[in-house]
Amino acid sequence: MIKAKVAEILESTQYLQEVQVKGWVRSFRSNRFIALNDGSTINNLQCVVDYEKMDEALLKRITVGAAIKVNGTLQESLGSGQKVEVQATSVEILGDADPEEVKFTILSPKRHTLEKLREQAHLRVRTNTFGAVMRLRSKLAFAVHSYFQQNNFHYVNTPIITGSDAEGAGEMFKVTSFDLKNPPKNEDGSINYKEDFFGKETNLTVSGQLEAETYALGLGQVYTFGPTFRAENSNTSRHLAEFWMVEPEMAFCDLDKNMDIAEEFIKYVLKYILENCQDDLAFLEQRLANEDKVKPESERSPMSLTDKLKFVIENNFKRVSYTEAIDILKNSKPNKKKKFKYIIEEWGADLQSEHERYLVEKHFKTPVILFDYPANIKAFYMRLNEDGKTVRAMDILFPGIGEIVGGSQREERLEVLQKKMADLGIDEKELWWYLDTRKFGTCVHSGFGLGFERLVQFATGMGNIRDVIPFPRTPLNAEF
Ligand code: 4AD
Ligand code: MG
Repeated sequence: MIKAKVAEILESTQYLQEVQVKGWVRSFRSNRFIALNDGSTINNLQCVVDYEKMDEALLKRITVGAAIKVNGTLQESLGSGQKVEVQATSVEILGDADPEEVKFTILSPKRHTLEKLREQAHLRVRTNTFGAVMRLRSKLAFAVHSYFQQNNFHYVNTPIITGSDAEGAGEMFKVTSFDLKNPPKNEDGSINYKEDFFGKETNLTVSGQLEAETYALGLGQVYTFGPTFRAENSNTSRHLAEFWMVEPEMAFCDLDKNMDIAEEFIKYVLKYILENCQDDLAFLEQRLANEDKVKPESERSPMSLTDKLKFVIENNFKRVSYTEAIDILKNSKPNKKKKFKYIIEEWGADLQSEHERYLVEKHFKTPVILFDYPANIKAFYMRLNEDGKTVRAMDILFPGIGEIVGGSQREERLEVLQKKMADLGIDEKELWWYLDTRKFGTCVHSGFGLGFERLVQFATGMGNIRDVIPFPRTPLNAEF
C-alpha cells in the first residue's frame, strides 16, 4: 500500500497497486464518482465507489467539502479526462461537511465572484483559482531564492521592527507597548517614548534596504525577502498595506549593472514557472480568457497569459531616461486631449500609474526601465548625477501592472549624503549607523526592490492584488 499525493498518483502507471489517498471531496456524481483534491495539483483524482457494497449512511456523508481517506486500487481510467483512477475498496470520512451549511459558503458548486471569495479567504484556497494562484506563488518564491543562491547572493533577514523610515514617505504603522489610553507624557504634553518598550519611537518597516546595504558592504551581494508594511491609504488593485518585497543589494555595482541584474532576475523567475507550473498556468490562462470574453474589446488582453510571459522572457526591456519619457508623455494623445487625470506639464512631474501604463502598454508595448529621475521626487539615498538635479534611480514598468521594481545606485559619498539629509531634514543621529558605512570602506553599490505580489499578479494574470496573497491587509480590512 502506497500513501500518496494526488499529483503523484496521477503520474503513476503502477496499475493494480494498492494506494491510500486523503483529500477533500470536490464533487460526488451518481453515488459513484468522487472527484478528490488534496492541493498537490489542480487536477482531481477520480475515486470510483461501488455503492452497492457500501453502507448507505457512509455514502450520504461523501459530500462536497468533506475530508476523506480512500483506500483502493490504481486503475487505468476508461473515462475521458484522466489516465488513472482509484477503484475504492474503502472510504473513511475524516471530517464532515454538512451540505446544509456548505450551500451558504463558496464551497458550494456554483460560480462565485472574486469579491465573494475574498469574504471567505479562509476557504477560497479550496477553489481551483486560488489553489493555482497559491501554488504558483510558492513556486515563484522558490525561484526567487534559487536565482540569488545560484548567483552568489546571501539571504539576510532584515528587521521588521525599526526606528527608521527608509523611504521617507511617513507611511508607517507605529509599534508600541504603551496603553494607548494613557501613555506616559513629557512635561510639554508630548508622548514620552523613552518609557516605551524600545526606549524610542519604532514602526513596522517599509523596506529592508538600509539594513541590507550595511550587509552588502561586507557580504558583497545580499537579498532580503520579507514582509513590509505601508500605511498608505491607497485602495487600488495594486496596493497592500502588508506586502512582500524582494530586495537585493550589491557592492561594487553601478546602475547599469543593477538594471541588468533586475532584468535577468525577472526573466529567470518567469521562465521557472513557465517550465514548472504548466497545469496551473493552463488553468489561469483559460480563466483570464473567460474573464476577457465579457469585457469590451478594447479592454481585452491582446496576448494569452503564457504568451505574455514568453514575450517578457524573450524581449529586452526598453531602457528610457525620465527626460525622454516626459517628452513622449507631453506629446502623447491622452496628454494633449487632456485624457490623463494628471496632465504632464513639465519636466519634474511625478509619474502616475496612468503615465507608466501609457508608456508600457501604448507607446513601447514592452516592459520599460525608466532611469535618471529628478532628485526631488525620489528617496534621499539615491546617487546624485553630475547634472546636480537627477538621481541614479530606475523603475521597471510592466504591462497591466505599472511599477513592479524600484531601485537605484546608492549615494556612497558621505558629504553628498549628509547634505541631502540636511536638506530634507533627516536627523543624522537617527541614521548614524547608515552613515558609518560611508566612512569605513564606502563603495559604489546598488540595489532594487521588487513587489512580490505585483510579480505574482503578472504571472497569474489576476487583476486584483488582494487575490494573490492569502490574507490581504488593506485599509479597513484585517479580517482573518
Ligand atoms: O519603489 P519602492 O517604494 O522602493 C523601495 O522600497 C526601495 N527601498 C527598494 C530598494 O531599492 N531596495 O518599492 C519597491 C516595490 C515597488 O516597485 C512595488 O512593486 C512594490 O515594492 N510596492 C508595493 N506592492 C504592494 N503594495 C504596496 N503598497 C507597495 N508599495 C510598493
Ligand atoms: Mg517606487
